[in-house]
Amino acid sequence: CGIVGYVGDRDCADVLVDALSKLEYRGYDSAGIAVVEKGVIKVEKCKGRLANLVDKMAVDGKPQGHCGIGHTRWATHGEPSDINSHPHGNKRVSIVHNGIIENYKQIKDFLIEEGYSFVSETDTETVAKLLDYYYVDDPVDTIIKVLSEIKGSYALGIMFRDYPDTVFAVRKECPLIVGVGENENFLASDVPAIIKYTRDYYLLEANEIAVVKKDSVQIYDMHKEPVHKEINTADWDVDAAEKGGYEHFMLKEIHEQPAAVRDTVSPRIINGMPDLSQDGVDMQKLKDYRQIFIVACGTAMHAGMVGKYVIEKLARKPVIVDIASEFRYRDPIITKDDLMIVISQSGETADTMAVLRLAKEVGAATLAVVNVVGSSIAREADMVIYTHAGPEISVASTKAYMVQISVMYLLAFELAYANGTIDKERCMELTAQLGQMPDIIRETLELKDTCSFVASKLVNAESLLYIGRGLDYALSMEGSLKLKEISYIHSESYAAGELKHGTISLITEGMPVIAVATQKKLIEKTVSNIREVKARGAMVILICDNSIEVGEGVADYIIRLPQTDEQLMPMAAAAPLQLIAYYTSVLKGNDVDKPRNLAKSVTVE
Ligand code: G6P
Repeated sequence: CGIVGYVGDRDCADVLVDALSKLEYRGYDSAGIAVVEKGVIKVEKCKGRLANLVDKMAVDGKPQGHCGIGHTRWATHGEPSDINSHPHGNKRVSIVHNGIIENYKQIKDFLIEEGYSFVSETDTETVAKLLDYYYVDDPVDTIIKVLSEIKGSYALGIMFRDYPDTVFAVRKECPLIVGVGENENFLASDVPAIIKYTRDYYLLEANEIAVVKKDSVQIYDMHKEPVHKEINTADWDVDAAEKGGYEHFMLKEIHEQPAAVRDTVSPRIINGMPDLSQDGVDMQKLKDYRQIFIVACGTAMHAGMVGKYVIEKLARKPVIVDIASEFRYRDPIITKDDLMIVISQSGETADTMAVLRLAKEVGAATLAVVNVVGSSIAREADMVIYTHAGPEISVASTKAYMVQISVMYLLAFELAYANGTIDKERCMELTAQLGQMPDIIRETLELKDTCSFVASKLVNAESLLYIGRGLDYALSMEGSLKLKEISYIHSESYAAGELKHGTISLITEGMPVIAVATQKKLIEKTVSNIREVKARGAMVILICDNSIEVGEGVADYIIRLPQTDEQLMPMAAAAPLQLIAYYTSVLKGNDVDKPRNLAKSVTVE
């Protein structure tokens, strides 16, 4: 989501709308502003793009004032609707929020007992009402008190009716800056929102509270001690700023993966155990389905492949993975005793939707893993687990895939435990490792120079192969797809053991082969497959974990991954594969974020 705030002499509503228009890449399912007009907090908000809000205000009349906050939303709790749009609050307090409040349910229950009522389904409204609950007369004290009770990630813009010329702000995990102008100051999630007005800004650190007035910005820590900060000056142009300083959205999104995984996974780990009950998933029921199907398209289908391997391995339940466009026409054997899992970033893919409907028709239980809250697939499925990747702008999917596989793990762990195929200790151990994955992924992002070097070795290839066994095979399918999508180099992923049954005839002198080998039990087998291609002249790039000993001459280049449980290695190997594809595309001078012939969401058959 995108947050903005303004205090100054200009028409506040105009500045807020203009600033929000630069943040629409952060979310665009609803928008809203709150402006203090003659001592009253006036809120205008609605579902849809910012343009809808502008139209609405043309009819309603825009709030007149000089102090306000604004928001452009990407839903995480509660589907896009007028009511769920930000700002939230009441007559006394109004807030805009970016992030996820993990313990909002407990807070909401508490506040309901205290007599509060709620109009929206958002986690944000609970924070607004908690601020109201603790408010006596000092906003900073109130904010400190609330911060000590909320868990999760947030950036908040806050207004109190009693302080009509002040905007308050605080953040943790989500970005927030305070723009410093002349006789006017700003609040924004990101530089592009304010760059037209000022290039000077403070970067708020976790739990620093900013008190922003027209002619002053004061920053406090959690002990209410003033903090003195350096002013930063933005030297990006607006285009670069939207990409957070990265050259492309794809690279930015690759770097957002640790946060996306954390947002998706941590709210679903309770007392060290995976817990999808808050998503409406009853594992006791799930474990009794005869057969699990996972059906999706493209990258989402590849996430399903990872799901198949881990669910079968840990939960000992048979899983059939299929491509949606194939499944729907092959007269599949699916009954009311089965579970259909569909995976979709957009929640709008026509083929996936058709499969969901087919499954519902035969009475199968349906579970959707979706990134866009309130999307068609999410609305029609019996159960929904939302991934929290945020908006993915690049056509080639990266962070959406990463969070889809993290959901596959949560499902597999909880199902395996419910099924009695792993004990509590093992379940907790795996879950703890999953909780550590944001750090592991962050470490793998440091391999970017190596990946860029590898890309330089691929850029002139006409064709290449990705090979792997088991989970590594599932992962190499996605690695190969990424490369094809954006570099336009032909590549195939192959089960390493199957090479000798035909494909090996493709190997010629110098042909690149990317071998993924993270599964200890299979490493020797994969190494012998590597030797087979090496003997025929292939240039081998091996991706393996840093504990594996590889003999001399096996590979031309090795990318060493940090270690984690081998079940989770796909999450460690994914980013380097994405980076290899990314840098190859860059070296070829392609339009990385908008590859030819591809669309982000395919709503036709
Ligand atoms: C399109 C996109 C792919 C995506 C697939 C499924 O083909 O180009 O990147 O993986 O659709 O999209 P979904 O939104 O259902 O995950």
